[in-house]
Amino acid sequence: MVKIFKLKNVISIKDFERSDIEYILDEAEKLEKIALSQEISNELNGKILGTMFFEPSTRTRLSFETAMKRLNGNCIGFQDSFCSSVSKGESIADTAKMFEGYSDALVIRHKVEGVSKFISDIVDIPVINAGDGAGQHPTQTLLDLYTIRKELNTIDNLKIALVGDLKFGRTVHSLSYALGLFNNVKLYLVSPNELKMPGGVVHDLNISNIEFEEVEDIKDIIDDVDVLYVTRIQKERFTDQDEYEKIKGAYIINKKLLEGKDLIVMHPLPRIDEISGDVDDTKYNKYYIQAFNAVPVRMAILKTLINNNSKKPIK
Ligand code: CP
Repeated sequence: MVKIFKLKNVISIKDFERSDIEYILDEAEKLEKIALSQEISNELNGKILGTMFFEPSTRTRLSFETAMKRLNGNCIGFQDSFCSSVSKGESIADTAKMFEGYSDALVIRHKVEGVSKFISDIVDIPVINAGDGAGQHPTQTLLDLYTIRKELNTIDNLKIALVGDLKFGRTVHSLSYALGLFNNVKLYLVSPNELKMPGGVVHDLNISNIEFEEVEDIKDIIDDVDVLYVTRIQKERFTDQDEYEKIKGAYIINKKLLEGKDLIVMHPLPRIDEISGDVDDTKYNKYYIQAFNAVPVRMAILKTLINNNSKKPIK
C-alpha cells in the first residue's frame, strides 16, 4: 500500500493520525545517513526555509537549519524579534506575508498559543509550529516518538512517565496526545501538585483510550516504567517567581535513583538541574541521541511538506 502524508502544515499533533506519524518516522529512518553526513542529498536544492523565532531556541532552530542544509536547501530568518522590523511595530501578519514571498516553508516559535495556526491561515506556504507558549511542540513530539521507537523497537505496550512541569511544558502536552494514538500505552503523569497536567489535556486523555495515572512521588512508579521523560520547570512562564523558587528542584534524576532500573531517560532539553551530570555517561542517557534525532525527523518533515506543496505566485 502506498503511504501518503496529507497535512499541509504541522500546527498541532491533534491533527495527526497514527499513519501520519509513522509516515514521518519511516521517512526519517531513510534520511539518517544524510543527517550523519555519510550520504549527500539534493532533495531540497533551490528551496528556502524561513524561520521566525520570537522565543529563544538552540535545538529546534539549529536542527531545522541543519535539516534544510543537509538536503541542500537554504535558510533565512531571525532568532529574535529585535532583529526584524517587528521591533519597529510591524505586525506579525505582515512579517509572515514577507516570508510567504521569500521562502518555501515557514517555522515559527512564539510565546503566544495559537500564533502558528493564525499564520497558517494567512499564508499559502506550509507552516510549522516550533513551540507556541505553553501550547504544543509537535515536531518535538515526532522526534521523541522516533527516539522511543528506535531505542525500544516499539511505541505500543510501553509504560511512560512524563516528569516535571506538566502544566507549562508544551512538549508533554503534544506527546501525551500522540501516545494516545498507540496501543496499550500507560502514562504516569509525575508532577508537583502546582504543575499538574492542564485540565484540557486531562479531559482529552480521559476520552481517548489511553490509560493514565497522576502521581507526585517518582519512587512510586520508577520500577514500572520503560521511559522516564523528564522536563524542565519552565521558569519563564511563572507570573510569581516566588512560586518558581518553591518548586524548582522538585525532581532530580541521578545515577543512584536509576541503578538497577530497566528504562531509558529522555529530556527535550534544555535541562537545568533535573537530570544530574552523573547520568550522562550511563546507558540510561538517551537525551543526546534524542537531540540528534531532531535532524532526520525535521528533514523528513521539511522534505514532505515542501515537496507536497509547490509554491504559488503571491497575490
Ligand atoms: N527542545 C527544544 O525545543 O529545545 P530548544 O528550546 O533549544 O529549541
